[in-house]
Amino acid sequence: MNIKVRYMFGKKKKETPAIDPVQKEMIENAQRRIKEKRGLFTHFVVFLVGAVGLIIISQVMMQVEPMKILNIEWWIWVLFVWLLLLIYHAFKVFITNRLLGPGWEKIQYDRLVQKQKDRIAQLEEKVATAHPLPDTKIITTSSSKKRIITMIAAAGANNELGKDGDLVWHLPDDFKRFKSLTTGHHIIMGRKTFESFPKPLPNRTHIILTRDKNYKTDVGIVVHDLSTALAAASSDEEPFIIGGGEIYKLGLEVADRIELTRVHGSFDVDTYFPEINKSNWKLIRTENHPADEKHQFAFDFETWERI
Ligand SMILES: NC(=O)c1ccc[n+]([C@@H]2O[C@H](COP(=O)([O-])OP(=O)(O)OC[C@H]3O[C@@H](n4cnc5c(N)ncnc54)[C@H](OP(=O)(O)O)[C@@H]3O)[C@@H](O)[C@H]2O)c1
Repeated sequence: MNIKVRYMFGKKKKETPAIDPVQKEMIENAQRRIKEKRGLFTHFVVFLVGAVGLIIISQVMMQVEPMKILNIEWWIWVLFVWLLLLIYHAFKVFITNRLLGPGWEKIQYDRLVQKQKDRIAQLEEKVATAHPLPDTKIITTSSSKKRIITMIAAAGANNELGKDGDLVWHLPDDFKRFKSLTTGHHIIMGRKTFESFPKPLPNRTHIILTRDKNYKTDVGIVVHDLSTALAAASSDEEPFIIGGGEIYKLGLEVADRIELTRVHGSFDVDTYFPEINKSNWKLIRTENHPADEKHQFAFDFETWERI
């Protein structure tokens, strides 16, 4: 038999191998039978000794008029009753316990359980025939939809993003679109982008990435890697990665969609959006916005999806 040995607190500890439940039941049954037979044998020996003792006592008391019941001496009655008890004991061991023991009880129990199950199945069938349920359709709730991780950015013709911690254009309609897409969602950003906001963006959960373990803020969740950021946004079916340059680079590996505002122009910047590899990404929608009195530059709203 294979006995596993494992080390516990520096000492070898023997681990008892697992016993099959059927095997365990058989062993327990055998042990019980041995105990019963041993009990019967002890009873038999005590009976023999008792019988000899009673015979000796009766012989010693020969001189005294012995007590009789129905003209039979008392000790014969004692022996007779005892013999009956011994026979009853033997009957229990060899007949009752053997034939009507735990095995028999289990069979009876299983039979009863099966009967109940059959009865329940019959009742269910009756109810289903008498009162059929209307056709049910599987309703897909919003929670069963696939989660889409979206990167949202505005970049110039050469992927320019910003300079000195700020944007290099003012495009109100792009802000409006950013607001309408991200409101109600989790927005994941780098610490520098977070600090570039004059105040937190309303109705959005801010998740801030920093390597600084002591970084604290009251207005968002601070994390130290992108997978934790996404886990922190797990309740959101469309979390947004909103920049800046360092975080877009990380996000490009995990994002499913990019909402990119392509600004028509070249800019002097220090931060760039990563190159979109066209063998991995497909432009599925584009919408032009011309330059006007509020918008110095024309731009396109582009939606890219991972292939
Ligand atoms: N045009 C757009 O759509 C757009 C959007 C957003 C931002 N921007 C512009 O982009 C510029 C900011 O971008 P940025 O690239 O300089 O900074 P950023 O990406 O906003 O933040 C960089 C910071 O993120 C943290 N970080 C980066 N990688 C990390 C990692 N792997 N694990 C944990 N933390 C990490 C570090 O914070 P610690 O230093 O604290 O460790 C790092 O300094 C600004 O000019 C902003 O205006 C433009």
